[in-house]
Amino acid sequence: RIAGPCSLVIFGVTGDLAKKKLLPAVYDLTNRGLLPAGFALIGFGRRDWTDEHFAKYVEECVRARCRTPFNEATFAQLASGLRFVSGAFDDSEAFTRLSNTVSDLDRDRGTRGNHAFYMSVPPSAFPVVSRQLAASGLAKSPEGAWRRVVIEKPFGHDLASAQELDRVVSEVFDPNSVFRIDHYLGKETVQNLLALRFANMMFEPVWNANYVDHVQITMAEDFGIGSRAGYFDGIGIARDVIQNHLLQLFALTAMEEPVSFSAADLAAEKTKVLSAVRLPKDLSHHTARGQYSGGWQGSEKVVGYLEERGVDPKSTTETYAAVRLDVDTRRWAGVPFYLRTGKRLGKRVSEIAVMFKRAPHLPFETTATRELGSNAVVIRVQPDEGVTLRFGAKVPGTAMEVRDVNMDFSYGSSFTESSPEAYERLILDVLLGDPPLFPTTKEVDLSWQILDPIEEYWATLGQPQQYRAGTWGPAEADEMLAADGRAWRLP
Ligand code: BG6
Repeated sequence: RIAGPCSLVIFGVTGDLAKKKLLPAVYDLTNRGLLPAGFALIGFGRRDWTDEHFAKYVEECVRARCRTPFNEATFAQLASGLRFVSGAFDDSEAFTRLSNTVSDLDRDRGTRGNHAFYMSVPPSAFPVVSRQLAASGLAKSPEGAWRRVVIEKPFGHDLASAQELDRVVSEVFDPNSVFRIDHYLGKETVQNLLALRFANMMFEPVWNANYVDHVQITMAEDFGIGSRAGYFDGIGIARDVIQNHLLQLFALTAMEEPVSFSAADLAAEKTKVLSAVRLPKDLSHHTARGQYSGGWQGSEKVVGYLEERGVDPKSTTETYAAVRLDVDTRRWAGVPFYLRTGKRLGKRVSEIAVMFKRAPHLPFETTATRELGSNAVVIRVQPDEGVTLRFGAKVPGTAMEVRDVNMDFSYGSSFTESSPEAYERLILDVLLGDPPLFPTTKEVDLSWQILDPIEEYWATLGQPQQYRAGTWGPAEADEMLAADGRAWRLP
């Protein structure tokens, strides 16, 4: 799978995402030999930079964060195809310069009219960039070539705005050339969920309401909002990651087996299960919000959310969110899915824990009676990537005593191959025109349909409950599970 002749144009190339993820990913793809020799990367931004200045910037970003070793020769190859176009998004002359640069690349580096446009910009900039691409003729592919557009989340802030964005983009680009990035789908461990479920015999037969008690999907972070107040405040963590990453993890965990792994077949199953989601009747008991207060994160003293630079001191934005979802299908009737996410929690960990019903009868003594017999399959998305099976085992000794133990599969010890970073995989898929790992408009809309009523309910409440930095979230979240006779796992 090596990309054919092409270029990648990044709007917002001096932003955080390009610096931390996109530029290092392009270098790693070059280093792995997955991009064509004539590949070109065009940065578009407001700064008054030359190509050389841009190349220096790219080198700094790459050296700081590349996953594969930094190699001068590889970088020189990448650098020979780096171009910078300086201008504002509403400056049509800048787009004429971009168009000329693209034509020069077709002539000088054999990119053959194949160009992908990556919108690493806030959604409010999508319409103007799309219109400029249309007006400058860049959005239209010449005969035998392709043009694609990559859209970063957030896809709007509710269903109505997402649909409006979609309308604007689809006026300019054919739906098949629009790639919406949800970088969780680019993670090896997330794709492995499909392998685990559908390449094996032992999991699917018990992956249903007959055996599963409930499912917990966790995305916890041990850091705060950093310098992202401008993006985060007023948006909140539910729109930031539940609407996309967590609902995608949910869909892959709960969906039926797709006919094939083609984009259409995968989307069909994800769409079905997202459509089957039922929200709890009582949102006050089955959702929880929190906001971190200051405290100690490990050995670091940290400030609370309301003291973060750029945050409105009266902000009601949540930095922790938990929701219960039910799924109206025969497979999942009566099995709640609990989704939770938060900043400044105990540690950085993302996992999907499928918690089984307890064994109906225990004919022996146990040391942990409460828990025993409640088996679990835990897909460890990150950081310690792998899968854990939890089951009871006999405690060594003369008595027949049973205790819960873990059996671990770890990527690090089972594979010698290194995992590509999520953005590497997704950028390569865009350049190859391979869509299965990109959510469709329908999935995005359904995800907003799930979240919108929860957001509307939260908007009627005041300040979210505070939780101390470095803990596992607000008491409200524990009460939410306790009301169902359950408790959150400590990952
Ligand atoms: C982004 C969110 O989509 O995902 C961030 O906007 C979050 O708030 C990030 O920190 C987490 O990504 P990862 O891959 O580090 O888990």
